Amino acid sequence: MFAPVVPRVEFSNGYSMPMFGLGTYLSVSGEVEKAVKYAIDIGYRHIDTAFYYKNEKEVGDAIREKIKDNTVKREDIFVTTKLWNTAHAEDKVVSACRKSLENLGLEYMDLYLIHWPIAFQDNEDLMPVDSTGLLMFSDTDYLETWKGMEECVRQGLTRSIGVSNFNSHQITRIMEMATIKPVNNQVEVTVNLNQVPLIEFCKKYGITVTGYSPLGRPGNRRGVANSLDSSEILAISEKYKKTPAQIACRYVYQQGAAPIPKSVTPSRIKENIDIFDFELTSEEMKTIEMAGSGVRMGSFPDAKDHRYYPFAIPF
Ligand SMILES: NC(=O)c1ccc[n+]([C@@H]2O[C@H](COP(=O)([O-])OP(=O)(O)OC[C@H]3O[C@@H](n4cnc5c(N)ncnc54)[C@H](OP(=O)(O)O)[C@@H]3O)[C@@H](O)[C@H]2O)c1
Repeated sequence: MFAPVVPRVEFSNGYSMPMFGLGTYLSVSGEVEKAVKYAIDIGYRHIDTAFYYKNEKEVGDAIREKIKDNTVKREDIFVTTKLWNTAHAEDKVVSACRKSLENLGLEYMDLYLIHWPIAFQDNEDLMPVDSTGLLMFSDTDYLETWKGMEECVRQGLTRSIGVSNFNSHQITRIMEMATIKPVNNQVEVTVNLNQVPLIEFCKKYGITVTGYSPLGRPGNRRGVANSLDSSEILAISEKYKKTPAQIACRYVYQQGAAPIPKSVTPSRIKENIDIFDFELTSEEMKTIEMAGSGVRMGSFPDAKDHRYYPFAIPF
């Protein structure tokens, strides 16, 4: 029987997270529930969603159904969701967290992340724009947001809290004021963007890293070449009899980040997690690193003028 053994990483607060999960960004209603159920059936124990993805309800339905049919217990499943940019004011965070829990239909989430360090005006529209089409930013400091995140832990809504798309400077600011420390930073980690300096930095602070877009978003590349087709990846793929997607996920995992590839295709959901029976050598890791283009897929260019845009410094 197919039963991948996924290692776990321990958080600084004693909880732990499976080092591989299912992404759900752009997994739409009608597809995502089936995908999550199938993933749990074949051994996924870590599911990533966000308020912004507008699929928390279907993700939660799938998880609850798998608990109900005794495939898993609640404590076997690690569920992450994220606070969106329109709810950064300290007094909005707890109600946003409660809304996500209500969508999921769960009593607690395992990990609640600030999705971006960037705040927008509080608005029904999740990407509020003014009459000239520019995003309506808010100056709310994410340190204020963090106080609301800590309150979510105190109220038992989430076991752990963390950040996403935060750079080293932003993490330092949080660490200096936090009463409850962030346990995780979710950032893009791919064969093109290995994030070695940021991962090392996070490690020093006891912060684990989740790697998003580990496949480099093959279906949505906006003209950027797909490095899963590079000769280096193809040669390594041939050696291990693994697909380029599996090599990419294994690379992210060996880099020290938990890959969370998104798929709604059963064969790919199964393929992607099947990476725990081989190991890339340090030379192969280096070869992939050297071939990487440095291109960031999730650069959020419309937010580049925000005072807390995270990608204006090297890491
Ligand atoms: N924190 C953040 O700001 C942030 C940003 C981006 C993403 N994320 C999280 O990270 C997850 C993954 O990132 P992502 O969705 O951007 O990109 P990704 O996982 O790198 O790529 C997803 C795309 O790859 C396809 N795919 C999946 N497995 C494949 C395989 N084995 N071979 C070929 N193609 C395959 C999927 O298609 P099918 O579904 O059709 O199979 C989908 O089009 C997201 O879903 C989300 O949960 C977080």
